[in-house]
Amino acid sequence: MTVATLRRATVLERSAPMRTAVELVLHEPEAAVAAKPGQFFQLGVDAQHTLLRRPYSIAWANPDLGRIGFIFSVVGAGSAWLGAREAGQPVELLGPLGNGFATPGPDRTAVCIAGGLGIAAFVGLVKGRDRLGRRTVVLLGARSSDWLLPADRLRGAEVRVATDDGSAGHTGRVTALLPRALHDDVELFMCGPNEMLLAVVRSCRELGFPLERVQVALETPMGCGIGTCLGCALPARGGGYLLACQDGPCVTADRLDWDRMDGI
Ligand SMILES: Cc1cc2nc3c(=O)[nH]c(=O)nc-3n(C[C@H](O)[C@H](O)[C@H](O)COP(=O)(O)OP(=O)(O)OC[C@H]3O[C@@H](n4cnc5c(N)ncnc54)[C@H](O)[C@@H]3O)c2cc1C
Ligand code: FES
Repeated sequence: MTVATLRRATVLERSAPMRTAVELVLHEPEAAVAAKPGQFFQLGVDAQHTLLRRPYSIAWANPDLGRIGFIFSVVGAGSAWLGAREAGQPVELLGPLGNGFATPGPDRTAVCIAGGLGIAAFVGLVKGRDRLGRRTVVLLGARSSDWLLPADRLRGAEVRVATDDGSAGHTGRVTALLPRALHDDVELFMCGPNEMLLAVVRSCRELGFPLERVQVALETPMGCGIGTCLGCALPARGGGYLLACQDGPCVTADRLDWDRMDGI
């Protein structure tokens, strides 16, 4: 079981990187040092009828300044409470939790495909690769341009966009951008709604791209976040289950049984 550390962070800034999301910047120096791209924290919320903490990907961390950023949309009581936190107020953090992304070899191009707020999981990964001078391509899909993280937040990456309504980039699903992006030197990363993950897996199979080279950041609804409630079980390839909070959230796609993932 993960040994999880409970910490008290302070809100430094709240902003709206795009119309449909909130970015909270928290100050907690030890957590900022410990946090790795792809991991998550359980954020304490104090709204009515919200017993459980809420899981959020580490969008980015700056260990020098002791800062951690989270980017999220408001979908219910917990995220509404978090989205209303103001500078100087405390937020309880449990983590960092789970396994982050495995680092691809230096000669590999990272292609990150994100649906909607799935992009939050990739901001730190892109920053880190930019610092090392490594090539990253981001395929960013959303229902409309209001939901797109501005490309300047992904500096250093080649950003290709798709929107369902055609308000920016390619009109249609982001998976349409995959065939042009998948080459022999690519490691693929994905994060987004289940429907998108399933579509990416289907495309990889059709294109003969091995699922061992696809890392998925799972955002399966969670309870405890630390391996005790079994609320985040997902079907594993070869039978049985893995726990998104402990075995993930980042796993290679070949470890999951995608034929049993539909509807989860
Ligand atoms: C590891 C992990 C990382 C995450 N990172 C982010 C992130 O960086 N940014 C972000 O915006 N969201 C992220 N999420 C989703 C986020 O945790 C939920 O949106 C949040 O818990 C909702 O809490 P709430 O109280 O506002 O809504 P609730 O009242 O709990 O739920 C409101 C609605 O959202 C749905 N919902 C709740 N959780 C999820 C989920 N995981 N996936 C899809 N639908 C869900 C519910 O079914 C319901 O319809 C992440 C989830 C996980 C497991
Ligand atoms: S969320 Fe409780 S076991 Fe994973």
